[in-house]
Amino acid sequence: MCGIFGYIGKSKDAPKKVFNGLIDIEYRGYDSWGIAYPEKDSFKIVKKVGFLPKSFDFPSANLALGHTRWATHGGVNEANAHPHSDCSEKLVLIHNGIVENYLELKRKLKKHKFKSETDSEVIVHLIEDEYKGKLSLKEAVANVFKRLEGLNAVVVSDGLEIVACKTGSPLVVGKNSDGFIIASDPNAILPQTNNLLFIEDGQMVSLSSSLEYYEIADLKKLEPKFIEVAWEHSSATLAQYPHFMLKEIFEQPQVLYNQIQDLESIKKIAGQINKAYGTYFIGCGTAGFACLLGVYLFSKVARKHVNFSIGSEFNYTEDFLTDKSLLIAISQSGETIDVVEPVNAAKRKGVQIVTISNTLGSSLYRLADTKMLLQAGPEKAVASTKAFMAMVANIILLGFALADKLAQGVSIIEKSAKEIEKVLAKSEEISKLALIIKDSEHMYILGRGLSYPLALESALKIKETSYIHAEGFASGELKHGALALIEKGTPVIVYVPDDETKGAVMANAMEVKARGAFVIGVGFADGVEENPVFDFFFKVADCGASSILPHVVFAQLLGYYLAVQKGLNPDKPRNLAKSVVVR
Ligand code: F6R
Repeated sequence: MCGIFGYIGKSKDAPKKVFNGLIDIEYRGYDSWGIAYPEKDSFKIVKKVGFLPKSFDFPSANLALGHTRWATHGGVNEANAHPHSDCSEKLVLIHNGIVENYLELKRKLKKHKFKSETDSEVIVHLIEDEYKGKLSLKEAVANVFKRLEGLNAVVVSDGLEIVACKTGSPLVVGKNSDGFIIASDPNAILPQTNNLLFIEDGQMVSLSSSLEYYEIADLKKLEPKFIEVAWEHSSATLAQYPHFMLKEIFEQPQVLYNQIQDLESIKKIAGQINKAYGTYFIGCGTAGFACLLGVYLFSKVARKHVNFSIGSEFNYTEDFLTDKSLLIAISQSGETIDVVEPVNAAKRKGVQIVTISNTLGSSLYRLADTKMLLQAGPEKAVASTKAFMAMVANIILLGFALADKLAQGVSIIEKSAKEIEKVLAKSEEISKLALIIKDSEHMYILGRGLSYPLALESALKIKETSYIHAEGFASGELKHGALALIEKGTPVIVYVPDDETKGAVMANAMEVKARGAFVIGVGFADGVEENPVFDFFFKVADCGASSILPHVVFAQLLGYYLAVQKGLNPDKPRNLAKSVVVR
């Protein structure tokens, strides 16, 4: 999703620094990019559709702003790419978020010349009016920002200073002896400095040779609180792998071992769940499926009921929350706005917040009363794999901690890590399967119980990487409608773990086989693999309640190989972004 990177300081290499910063955030997904730097007494703006080039002819300047855009308002073209400028090209702006009242604001700007269809450009013209009215840049920006509706991060420059403010969308400032960096992702700042200031909602920073920090509402001066973070720069390299997705899939055994090193947070959160009067899991996409798994797992392992809601739906059901409720937000990025917003709302009601995230310092991390870091390492492929692995492992550990059997939880996680190594060693088999089914238009994935969220996650992985329409079902639902979709040769993946779902799921496999499906079995149950119902069987040893962990690796690899064999880039699925910071 959109990325912001800016620099002001002593170095004359500002455009180069900004270009490199944009490279560091490009994994978040974008469709166009742009860089602006002062030239004589206005700005030179370079904008392009598509991805950043390998190199760039860097001019010399001590200030630059750069942006990677993920289109929301207005199509993907150069005019709509950021930075945007005012009529005189003396002010430039980069923006993340959505100005919900931009049409209303634009109507008041009849005399201005618009070059794009974006909501963002409206902001810079509004600032132009205020600035021409002899206000300082920070006063002009503050006045305009207060009129914007929605969640926005705005960074503006007049060539001498950078002014930035936000609500909702993340913004971080880095400081070193050389100058100041501002970015929407702290990871992009880390190659330059670990000294960071996280701008809070409703606050504003002005950067020149010094830094000033303000409340937007009344421009009251605040004391900036820089923190020295001890993280590694996350520009993970591909090493010997052709894609980040494959690398991240192969890192998963280690990710599982990381989860069992320190169980103090698990015990603490289990204690909070036990005390709470109602526990709610929220997450989106893959993280949402990890949450849904929690509902099944807690009930199966600990006889404990928890609630789950997709982040974007939570506001419609939050009426049940009280100050005795516990909200557990699960998010790789920690920035997903559909989770951040309901967490903010719940916090205002006095709800205790637990965040399980892969990103230190992220919005959700900072909002939480109890924070757990996933320790999955940087995840750069858009499709989440190893973060899901870490989320599910922690949910399993929480379930076993609630049942007072944490050691058993640890032992099945260890067993799963070993089993995943075996799955990875057999990846060639999955690649061959991908070759057989890659031209299919539709694909269905069936599971019951714990394997139902697994079926949903498998379908998501396959559809986002290969663009094959894939749907996951609770296999009991087949006869209630979806069976009508099965035709001769339709690939259907059936998860057959060695648990209470085996008999019923096998019966469902027979039903799709009888309608001509190409049935792919995954799992282990004595003799099942020899059952003629399967056209292809991928055997995975039973790992009890954590069998979902090696099973999902099958689907991740299938998604990966389907993409590669269809000539697609599995790391950057079309239309998707790594960090979804707009509603
Ligand atoms: C799918 C995927 C997404 C994310 C979702 C939430 O592979 O990656 O569905 O899981 O956008 O993102 P986070 O976990 O960052 O909140």
